[in-house]
Amino acid sequence: MTFVGLRIVSDFINGIVFLPNVVANNPTEHKAINKSLSMATLIFDHNQEEVNLPDHSPIAEVCEEAGVPFACTEGVCGTCVIEVKEGSENLSPPTKEEGDFLGEGTRHERLACQCRIQKGRVRVCF
Ligand code: FES
Repeated sequence: MTFVGLRIVSDFINGIVFLPNVVANNPTEHKAINKSLSMATLIFDHNQEEVNLPDHSPIAEVCEEAGVPFACTEGVCGTCVIEVKEGSENLSPPTKEEGDFLGEGTRHERLACQCRIQKGRVRVCF
């Protein structure tokens, strides 16, 4: 868990260091960067752990650290299936691999190795 926290802190530090150079010349860029630094929250239902991730982040690493098993990491084996309890609209659209494995149109089961959290809050269990 500490590793994830350090990575997020590192991302913020990189953003803060980068920000002044861009903002000085272009306020529009400032708004875009602030938007890109928005954080989403992934919640693990079994222990109520909440992990903050930058919007549009892959969720595989934090899911693995929470105990979700992984094997192929390419959307083929189905080992990393998670159930989305809330906020499925805040995940990226299912990939072709997810459609092939889980069936078209599913939003309540996802392959953790394939999806990203786009924004907001998403509650999952496994
Ligand atoms: S690890 Fe194989 S489908 Fe995700």
